Amino acid sequence: MARNKVTVIGAGNVGATTAQRIAEAGLADVVLVDIVEGMPQGKGLDLAEAAPVVGHDARITGTNDYADTAGSDIIVVTSGIPRKPGMSRDDLIATNAGIVGGVVTSAAAVSPDAIIIVVTNPLDVMCHVAMRASGFPRERVLGMAGVLDSARFRTFIAMEMGVSVEDVHAFVLGGHGDTMVPLSRYSTVAGVPITELLPEERVKALETRTANGGAEIVALLKTGSAYYAPAACTFEMVDAILRDRKRVLPCATYLQGEFGVDGLFVGVPVVLGRGGLERVFEITLTADEQAAFDRSAAAVKELVAALPA
Ligand code: NAI
Ligand code: 2OP
Repeated sequence: MARNKVTVIGAGNVGATTAQRIAEAGLADVVLVDIVEGMPQGKGLDLAEAAPVVGHDARITGTNDYADTAGSDIIVVTSGIPRKPGMSRDDLIATNAGIVGGVVTSAAAVSPDAIIIVVTNPLDVMCHVAMRASGFPRERVLGMAGVLDSARFRTFIAMEMGVSVEDVHAFVLGGHGDTMVPLSRYSTVAGVPITELLPEERVKALETRTANGGAEIVALLKTGSAYYAPAACTFEMVDAILRDRKRVLPCATYLQGEFGVDGLFVGVPVVLGRGGLERVFEITLTADEQAAFDRSAAAVKELVAALPA
């Protein structure tokens, strides 16, 4: 059987940690790519030298040359720059759109059948850039954010209730930003909605902490943003696809009428399998939830409008 091959573009915090998880799970051979010369090669070799001790046979290499990524099953895009002082959100969009557009064009040319998972921020907008640059159908361009936002919500619910994270399920929909929509009615402990287990103000507090989850880590780290949980969440999507697991996970997806949105990437639950997006998993929203989802979609639309032509 042919070995799976995953290319991870951007060998920084999220990229290198994702590569480590994929290789150490023995899920696929991994090619780490970065614009910095030597760095992906160094991290690749370092990770390869852990293999005899960890005990896996995945090949992990680093490169600056897209020829080495040819024939990948999945392309994970983490390359980009963070927002710096004095930089507007629009400046960041323009810079990262240039980076994501460039790397996706190069990678997609040599892996025309790959599935792309975008991680670079602003997430939903970068998904648009990746779809344009690759020319891939929507089934093969997905964004990682909902899995992370839901994992944060699950963590906070488990902490609040004093129960195992294993028994907590949660759904966060919408764009990856301040307007994300934690769906408490569909978030459960052992199948029981948290709206029946906690007073309303505690539910609201957990929703707010989830929506600010990325900023909470940035405030603590000071020099960068979260990467352990983001890498674990990216791994979960890679695993669902390569092992054709039909997992139902919230992913940024190009909607074509579902949830009342057309022609925009927004986070919704989808079925993930070997074909990438296999089905949008539509759920019924209350009027308030739909209004919050629509506000989130409108915020994404505004950012997409700021993309350079
Ligand atoms: P980082 O700064 O550690 O890594 C980014 C890497 O991209 C660097 O190694 C840099 O050299 C590389 N790079 C820049 N331009 C490149 C190019 N043209 N070609 C190849 N590589 C290039 O950043 P980190 O922490 O790994 O975050 C990466 C991105 O992921 C950021 O945009 C961050 O905001 C985003 N992110 C998104 C999350 C989500 O939920 N969607 C969660 C966490 C991070
Ligand atoms: C996060 O939510 C920075 O988007 C990233 O941690």
